[in-house]
Amino acid sequence: MTLVRLQNIMSNEIAKRAFFSRPPEPPASVLINNPFQAIYIGNTSLFKVPFNWSFSNLTNPHIAVVGITGSGKSFFVKTLLRRANYIWNTNAIIIDWAGEYKPWVEQTRGKVVSLAKGDYLNILDLSGMKPLDRTKQIMNSLDILTDIGMFPEQKRLTEEAIEQSYTNAGFILYENAGDQESPTLKDVIALLQEKLQEGGYEYPAELENAIYRLRQFAREGEDFFSRKSTLDLGKLAESGLVDIDLSGLPDEKFRALAALFILQTIKEKMRAEGWSDTKGLKVIIVLDEAWKVASDEKSDAVTIVREGRKYQFGLIVASQSPTDINEAIFSNVGTTFILRIKFERFMAYLQSSLRFSNFIKEEISKFGVGQAAVKMEFTTALNFPETFIIGKINGEEPLYVYTIDLSDVLTAGEMESKLAQKDLQMEKDELRNKMIEHGITGSASADIFSMLDSSERSTKVLDFVKRLKTEGVANATIAEFLRGLGIDDTIITRILSRVGADAQ
Ligand SMILES: Nc1ncnc2c1ncn2[C@@H]1O[C@H](COP(=O)(O)OP(=O)(O)OP(=O)(O)O)[C@@H](O)[C@H]1O
Ligand SMILES: [Mg+2]
Repeated sequence: MTLVRLQNIMSNEIAKRAFFSRPPEPPASVLINNPFQAIYIGNTSLFKVPFNWSFSNLTNPHIAVVGITGSGKSFFVKTLLRRANYIWNTNAIIIDWAGEYKPWVEQTRGKVVSLAKGDYLNILDLSGMKPLDRTKQIMNSLDILTDIGMFPEQKRLTEEAIEQSYTNAGFILYENAGDQESPTLKDVIALLQEKLQEGGYEYPAELENAIYRLRQFAREGEDFFSRKSTLDLGKLAESGLVDIDLSGLPDEKFRALAALFILQTIKEKMRAEGWSDTKGLKVIIVLDEAWKVASDEKSDAVTIVREGRKYQFGLIVASQSPTDINEAIFSNVGTTFILRIKFERFMAYLQSSLRFSNFIKEEISKFGVGQAAVKMEFTTALNFPETFIIGKINGEEPLYVYTIDLSDVLTAGEMESKLAQKDLQMEKDELRNKMIEHGITGSASADIFSMLDSSERSTKVLDFVKRLKTEGVANATIAEFLRGLGIDDTIITRILSRVGADAQ
């Protein structure tokens, strides 16, 4: 009996065997790309090859980013937008559900549009479009957001009233608009009311319901979409970095209406501009947690994904739950970034739709912040795995320095002394890591950073320690932590007794 059997075999036979011929990462030639025409993301985990993202050999430029809260989705998006702007001069429009990007955009000197906090959108605004087309879009949004689809008569009445309001304002329905002032939803409602008062219409209840449905978007104090627009929609796609902050709107329905309207406007702009032979991307549109907008088949997010490539418009959809992204988007994006995933059902969904190996699945489940698996859809079938792992998305957070001021606990003599340390300064990561070392994580850590951030990243040591105690951190841990920051034992004792005395 032999345990090893020798066999004659041709080398091309061997090459067919997956074990020998399939490298675990795509070859460097597809990962590296020309760094002047591609965006550096990070190094691959296995061979440490620098990965520069480019869509030139992918099916399209669109990106899906999925991962649990805190996994680094927004961080990745910011990194990508900044580098795309640097390399290709790409404009960006962020549809910012929770106002999450606003501070960053302000810092980067981009433009922030805060709806319901001083900024308004007139959803009847034409920005050069034909009134008939805009009417269809408004009806489409109402179809996604309300139950109008179930009431054909109300739909017809609403559509007619919108068209009538354009005609009354001097527009020709089938001609591209000039710069006359657009009517608003209030005008549309007034027309329907007139019709109701005139009487004679067979189904007054239908009219009443149509009015009621529109009125929710035009009530005094909630008329964010029925006043003159405060931004130039026609220029949205060429204004550098624009953050449309939706966090001030009262609920999801309002946010979705704004998002759909912006997408429609961008789509029109994209089609009107046509194809041009510029390198890279002209515009990137970001939809972060916009589930209502990303999940509906009728949303223009789907149209942009289908047509964007030829116009060099890219869409980034980021979400905590991959199942909230419409199948048509999810299965059509050229690149998916999978960050940390917690729920088994999401993992199963991702694995079945993206077809990665169990090895990759295992790795994803161990990811920390900023790690990612990347799946790319190449235009030609290639003989290597399409999913690989990035050790860390190598972003660029602006350097934040935090200061802990010790002057309150120093004696006069110590204050005079050149040797005494009067404050501690460290970078965000350093402070965060020190806190993690002492088990100060999760909401305690988040609360402390938000306290620091609201006071220009500086705090007096006594306030800092009081805050740690409020977060339930024990004295012994606080002492260890302060020691780790390099504070002298005598001063630590002084700090703890001062805080203890104050608490009495
Ligand atoms: N690649 C990275 N390198 C360094 N820090 C990172 C990285 N990714 C994320 N972070 C940091 O981790 C924190 C959480 O990241 P981020 O806000 O991007 O998460 P998120 O996935 O967008 O979460 P949410 O779903 O709650 O919006 C941030 O403070 C961010 O600066
Ligand atoms: Mg985020």
